Amino acid sequence: MKCFLYAPFLCLWLLFSLEKSYAFEARKIAENHHSHTIEASSLFPSTSCKSSTKILSNNDNKTSLKVVHKHGPCSKLNQEKTIAAPTDTEILLQDQSRVKSIHSRLSNPKTSGGNDVKVIDSTTIPAKDGNVIGSASYIVTVGLGTPQKELSLIFDTASDITWTQCKPCAISCYDQKEQIFDPSQSTSYTNISCSSSICSSLTSATGTPPGCVSSTCVYAIQYGDGSFTIGFFGTEKLTLTPTDAFNNIYFGCGQNNQGLFGGSAGILGLGRDKLSFVSQTAHKYNKIFSYCLPSSSSSTGFLTFGCSDTKNAKFTPLSTISAGFYGLDFTGISVGGTKLAISASVFSTAGGLIDSGTVITRLPPAAYSALRASFRKLMSKYPMTKALSILDTCYDFSNYSTISVPKIGFFFSGGVEVDIDVSGVFFASSISQVCLAFAGNKNATDVSIFGNVQQKTLEVFYDGPAGKVGFASGGCS
Ligand SMILES: *[C@@H]1O[C@H](CO)[C@@H](O)[C@H](O)[C@H]1NC(C)=O
Ligand SMILES: *[C@@H]1O[C@H](CO)[C@@H](O)[C@H](O)[C@H]1NC(C)=O
Ligand SMILES: *[C@@H]1O[C@H](CO)[C@@H](O)[C@H](O)[C@H]1NC(C)=O
Ligand SMILES: *[C@@H]1O[C@H](CO)[C@@H](O)[C@H](O)[C@H]1NC(C)=O
Repeated sequence: MKCFLYAPFLCLWLLFSLEKSYAFEARKIAENHHSHTIEASSLFPSTSCKSSTKILSNNDNKTSLKVVHKHGPCSKLNQEKTIAAPTDTEILLQDQSRVKSIHSRLSNPKTSGGNDVKVIDSTTIPAKDGNVIGSASYIVTVGLGTPQKELSLIFDTASDITWTQCKPCAISCYDQKEQIFDPSQSTSYTNISCSSSICSSLTSATGTPPGCVSSTCVYAIQYGDGSFTIGFFGTEKLTLTPTDAFNNIYFGCGQNNQGLFGGSAGILGLGRDKLSFVSQTAHKYNKIFSYCLPSSSSSTGFLTFGCSDTKNAKFTPLSTISAGFYGLDFTGISVGGTKLAISASVFSTAGGLIDSGTVITRLPPAAYSALRASFRKLMSKYPMTKALSILDTCYDFSNYSTISVPKIGFFFSGGVEVDIDVSGVFFASSISQVCLAFAGNKNATDVSIFGNVQQKTLEVFYDGPAGKVGFASGGCS
């Protein structure tokens, strides 16, 4: 009955069953063949926003925010199209630079060094490559300051510091959709002093030792793709919902900001460092949160803090991968209902992690080759076409109105199997170029990353204290 949860596909089941003349058999056949049958047009977002019908219930122990794709029709950043969305090739290139910085952060743990970056006046502080941004694609809107101003922030499980651009933009601010936050207009803003111990803890959270301007603590975060933000480290009131507001949240008030932030006002850091938003709100939410990324950029998902209903979730232990990432131990892959013969050491050599910001799942070379071979075999009736950037298994579906897609499942430690939603199989550029949304790492020792295309419609639970991460299907549509 699970399939009926996928409302958009209901009509397809009916279509399929008409073809076969008997509904129940047809459903079973689809299950037996371990494939999804979808309408080709469902591979693309619609031009208008279909807000999720799931009601965001807020109670004493949890708080939900609406999640939208940065460049889709549900995002207010996208409404007047004043900030151009990147092309598919650009998205994949940015994704590659994010993955490169994750790999480099793991092989060279954050330390100081690297090029000096200019702060404010002529003060410079050294910054080190090793933070990740690139393609992070999903945003939530929060309130900052008193009176509160709405800001759309990219939420990122691989970032620790929450920051936004701040007036007077002493050196530079990039274009953002909402008004730039002005701390001088907020009664709840305070600067952190250079001598405070919280200022020194920036070194572990950002990889860069703090600077000091007129005795105010200065943070700097430089991302792997060359983007950066530098400014005053302060505290402010951060409001998630009318009932959930937090005083004195440490955040970066950026005076020199440049990069690919897509018109958003900054980052909400959901990493594991003690300065992350998750750690700073632990007294209320106990480092427990979950999110659901929608099936397309024309739908909405949610980000929930605090205890959620986990009864349908399957949990796997968070592994102890370093550098503050949420480690995830991959153990296997199935395609079309058949578990691939991939030796366990292929996954354990590299280790793995889950990231809300990486788009395409990255696998060890041997695991990706096995997945690709099996997928291509099951898709052999469809004509292939040229590669799209890092994606080398692309199809031309111009002549098809329905497509049968092999199911893909992932196994994680503890024997947990997670089925990828059909919306998480392809990266569709156009009907004549629809690509398998997985890529192989170059080096067998590079970490595997469970990316956000594959997380679509799953509710993903993070439970810091219990050291586990969980997945439930059908979290959003
Ligand atoms: C909130 O959590 C407390 C303690 O875990 C529990 O007793 C209470 O029932 C929860 N409240 C709601 C509304 O779920
Ligand atoms: C914070 O510190 C900066 C630099 O010293 C200063 O320009 C600014 O006015 C301070 N803001 C507040 C609210 O104290
Ligand atoms: C689509 O069908 C037409 C007519 O049969 C054929 O000429 C064309 O090559 C097909 N295109 C693809 C991409 O399969
Ligand atoms: C793969 O990574 C290892 C360790 O990080 C390194 O020693 C090796 O040279 C790399 N191999 C290739 C082909 O880059």
